[in-house]
Amino acid sequence: MAATKGAMLYEGKAKKLFETGDPDRVVQYFKDDATAFNAQKKGTIVEKGVVNNKVSETLFRLLEAGGVPTHFVERLDDREMLTKKVAIIPIEVVVRNVVAGSLAKRLGLKEGEAIAPPLIEFYYKDDALGDPLITDEHVRLMKLADPATVAQIKELALKINALLAPFFRERQMILVDFKLEFGRHKGAVILADEISPDTCRFWDQTTKESMDKDRFRKDLGKIEEAYREVLKRVCG
Ligand code: TMP
Repeated sequence: MAATKGAMLYEGKAKKLFETGDPDRVVQYFKDDATAFNAQKKGTIVEKGVVNNKVSETLFRLLEAGGVPTHFVERLDDREMLTKKVAIIPIEVVVRNVVAGSLAKRLGLKEGEAIAPPLIEFYYKDDALGDPLITDEHVRLMKLADPATVAQIKELALKINALLAPFFRERQMILVDFKLEFGRHKGAVILADEISPDTCRFWDQTTKESMDKDRFRKDLGKIEEAYREVLKRVCG
């Protein structure tokens, strides 16, 4: 019964959320719509929703097994998963193992340099402001999360990285960086949103080619092929 899809609660750039018969459960529907640069660039990646739903399922299961609480309940079909209803903490948490993307650009660092220990960054989740980089002090100023929650988020982010990085290494992929979102559920902080080629950078171990949304952001071509290859390596 809980999986009966009701009214749409929210439509984001890549997903829609629907009510269910259970006030503690929502259906997360994955679209093929792709955006970049705060939606200045728009497009479609055919079957992306299916890939992101299945890849997220596999990674959420892996993390749960490793002791990380997540919002994942079950995958319902190709494009939908049932999740716990959370109040999203408006912080995009980025974990970086290798210099790339905005880190390289902002600080003039060389793309491809290893980062050890991993770097954690916070971005304020606000489209109107373009998701600006913020520090713990801004989190405190804006009351986005209390210090204990910030500490918990950092600990979870590092634990998630420690579980995911070897998983991808075994699949001949380098987990360059990724973005996480956390939510509050019954007083606990749990991992929410998705973990997919939309929200991670993966480089092929051998060729160092991008196997993620950077192919869309940078017009590198073979986007669908890359997403299909990630699905194959992650879900078998
Ligand atoms: P960045 O280098 O552009 O800051 O991106 C860091 C990571 O966060 C990368 O794996 C892609 C992911 N990401 C999102 O999931 N959503 C976003 O809106 C942005 C800008 C990045």
